[in-house]
Amino acid sequence: MPVIFGKAPGKIILFGEHAVVYGQPAIAIPVLDVAATARVTPLLGAGPGRVHVQAHDIHLDTLLSDLPEDHPIGAAIRATLAEITPEYTPAFTIQLDSTIPISAGMGSGAAVTVAIIRALSAFLGRPLPDEQVSGLAYDIEKLHHGTPSGIDNTVVTYQKPVYFQRGEALQTLTLSHPTHWVIADTGEKMPTRETVSAVRDLHDSAPETYDAIFAEIGQIVRAARQSLAQGDLPRLGGLMDRNQSLLESLQVSSPSLEALIAAARGAGAVGAKLSGGGRGGNMIALAPPEKVRQVEKALKDAGAVRILTTILRETT
Ligand code: PMV
Repeated sequence: MPVIFGKAPGKIILFGEHAVVYGQPAIAIPVLDVAATARVTPLLGAGPGRVHVQAHDIHLDTLLSDLPEDHPIGAAIRATLAEITPEYTPAFTIQLDSTIPISAGMGSGAAVTVAIIRALSAFLGRPLPDEQVSGLAYDIEKLHHGTPSGIDNTVVTYQKPVYFQRGEALQTLTLSHPTHWVIADTGEKMPTRETVSAVRDLHDSAPETYDAIFAEIGQIVRAARQSLAQGDLPRLGGLMDRNQSLLESLQVSSPSLEALIAAARGAGAVGAKLSGGGRGGNMIALAPPEKVRQVEKALKDAGAVRILTTILRETT
């Protein structure tokens, strides 16, 4: 039996985080510069069903049977086996590697899950279609996020820029011009589960007020989709800045995010905002091509611990 690989990219949300949990649309893109990989190798000589799991990045080297039920990696392996129900499961080792930063709003959990599902289903001779991969990954996302919108598993499975709305069919984006997105990490780790739960408490304290904020974010996302289609950078920048103000009203921004956002704007970004769960993690800036280096430098000087620029190419 050959060694089988599964792979999935990182992702970044451009517009609409948090409001997307409440049914508003959001826009997210794959970040192909980073990825999670799963490698399945037959364990020769071991009895059937024996599964060895290795993830050196998180110091995991164990048997599947020793992983707790709710461990996201164990859950992804078990869910894939349950979906396929092979007549015979040969012993195997699954080795996981990822260059996607953890707890930084880049979808690392979803990408690891998708890589596992792809590698394992292929190893068992039943590679699953995207829709099923994404659906299974969504179930596992619940362990990471509590009440995920489904945007992470969707983007990393389909590996395309998406306009995502909960419960709606997948819509990809039309892009008329390449755009340059500078992603910078505050270095502060904040699990998405916590910010999603804090926003839920806030919403429940004054539903009308917060529903109105979510609705305005939804309008921004619709306008951003149009601006991406037209390549209207100044308008996109203004929409990012407005989205950031609304995220501040949701209390998911932070001083370190705001320092990076200010630095990017000061260096010529047309707009900047936090991305993902917030209160740490990443911010994202839209830079005209000739300003990318300046923006990157300003972010570094302002204390970003990691900077990654990804180019979103036009669609044909
Ligand atoms: O980028 P992440 O993985 O931190 O995702 C956060 C996006 C939220 O809208 C806050 C939550 C969700 O499930 O959509």
